[in-house]
Order: sequence, then C-alpha cells, then structure tokens
Amino acid sequence: MTEAQARQRGGNAEDISAERLAEIGIRFEVDGEIATITLDRPDKRNAQTFATWTALAGIGESLPEQVRVVVVKGEGPSFSAGIDLRMFTPEGVPGQGSFSSAARGGDADFEHSIRKAQAGFLWLRRPEIVSIAAVQGHAIGAGFQLALACDLRIVADDVKFCMKEPALGLVPDLTGTKPLVELVGLAKAIDICLTARTVHAEEAMRIGLAEQVVARDDLDRAVRDKAAQLLSTNRDAAVATKRLLQGARGRTLEEQGVAEGLEQAARIKALFGG
Ligand code: ACO
Repeated sequence: MTEAQARQRGGNAEDISAERLAEIGIRFEVDGEIATITLDRPDKRNAQTFATWTALAGIGESLPEQVRVVVVKGEGPSFSAGIDLRMFTPEGVPGQGSFSSAARGGDADFEHSIRKAQAGFLWLRRPEIVSIAAVQGHAIGAGFQLALACDLRIVADDVKFCMKEPALGLVPDLTGTKPLVELVGLAKAIDICLTARTVHAEEAMRIGLAEQVVARDDLDRAVRDKAAQLLSTNRDAAVATKRLLQGARGRTLEEQGVAEGLEQAARIKALFGG
C-alpha cells in the first residue's frame, strides 16, 4: 500500500469519490498510464473554489502508481475563469466561506488555508509524472496558475492567459509566480502580472508559456500525441532525468555534473547490474 493509499484508508485524505468530484465540478479518469483531470463546470467557465483545490490535492495524494502522464483540461469554451467570484462576496461559496470571513480570522489560519490550496497545484511537478495543461479560451488568475503548475502547456489558438490578481488588489498565490518567472523571465513576468494584460497564443508560444499552439479542434489530439511520445521512453530514466532537469537551476555546472553522475550510476546498475 502506498503512503497515499494508507492516508486515504486512514480517513485523513480528501473524499475524491466520483460523486464528490462531480459536486465540486471535476472529473478524474485513469486510462492505463494516463490520468485526466477535467474541470467540469463549463456553465461557470470552470471557476475554481477552495473545494476544487483540496480535491486536486486529494487526487495527487491518491494518484495510482502506474500513472506517468497527468492531463489537466477544462470542459467548454474556457480552461478556467479563475477563482469563483462568489469568494469575494460577503456570502461566499456555500460551505466554503469567503474572503470576508477569512479576513476576520487569524493570519495563521489564512496562511494555513493557502498552503492547503497550494497543495492542489504543487504535486503536478513531481518527478514521477509529466503534467500537461490543455488550455483553450480563458485561463485567468487561478486558471493561469493551474496551467503554470503543469510541466507543459499545449494551447489552442484562442487561448487567453491573464494574471488578473493584481488588478483585483491581490497577489497570485497558487504557486504560479515561480514557474512564470522561470518560463518567461522576470521582466516579462512583471509586465504580464502588473498590467494584468491578456497574453494570446502567438505571444504565449514566442515567450515560452506554451510548448505548442494548435487549432481548437486539434487540442485533444495534440495532447494525446504528446502523452504517447512521453510514454515511449523508459520510465525510470524519465523520472531520473526530470529530477536532474528540475534541480539544474539551483546547482552550479560542476554540481550538476555530479548529480548527473549519481543518477547515471543508479541507471547503469539497474540496467546492467544483473
Ligand atoms: N466565478 C464565478 N462565476 C463565473 C466566473 C468566475 N470567476 N467567470 C465566469 N463566471 C460565470 C458568469 O457569472 C456566468 O454565469 P451566469 O451564466 O450564471 O450569468 C457564466 O460563468 C458565463 O460567464 P460569461 O461572462 O457570460 O462568459 P464569457 O465567455 O462571455 O466570458 C470570462 C468569460 C471572460 C472568463 C468572464 O466570465 C470573466 O471575466 N470572468 C471573471 C474572471 C475573473 O475575474 N476571475 C478572477 C481572477 S483572480 C483569481 O483567480 C485569483
């Protein structure tokens, strides 16, 4: 039993039964080595609530071990219009409170809530998987950050990325700022966030926000093709290589060389150790 399964059986994990996910507006399907998470509230442009983020965290915790590729997509015209704007009203989202109620609570409580929400995004970078965001239409605020949480972004030609938070008096706090800076550089990240302007497909491709731009009707096929390419390489080598690539920025060239040697020694042992 994996640690995640143990936690789930112990009753501490999120309820991610299909019924509960449907209530929240998420579908989760596993087909062999590919898992697909679909934000499924198209009538509300896949607006996200606190329950969305805890459910994402729950999916990450209980992800079946055989999964190597995780696709994150949105049903309908938009990937996600960001946080559910009811969170900004005094009434909030039924059963989930609002920012007004959070503001009355202590700072420590609020920071704890943010960390819980961020857990829904952070697992998408695990070395054991490659995550692909399939993004069409609007990806605003939390929607943009969810796309940024993934390793790769394949986008439709109608994509509209927008980091709306600063325009609303907020900061992006769902782990999106670091990948944004790493992808596009500090100056462009400042430009995109502090103007809250929209980044369209051509620019997204040019500045490194998107790996691939395809016609809207071709999005699912392009994601399927990329998943197949990713699954064509050796699983353990892929995990070790992702670990190396992820660590590269934080190491000197010399240190990276050492890390490569260590990973390769383990590979050689596994392949030829007998
Ligand atoms: N929260 C709650 N409901 C939403 C949200 C949202 N973020 N976005 C859209 N909806 C709802 C609309 O209220 C509308 O509901 P209704 O049919 O019951 O009236 C429905 O979704 C469709 O929305 P439209 O605006 O009619 O759809 P359209 O395709 O014309 O526009 C767009 C889409 C551009 C995304 C627009 O809905 C919008 O600007 N939404 C708000 C975006 C936003 O400010 N998000 C917060 C970012 S900050 C953060 O995420 C932390």
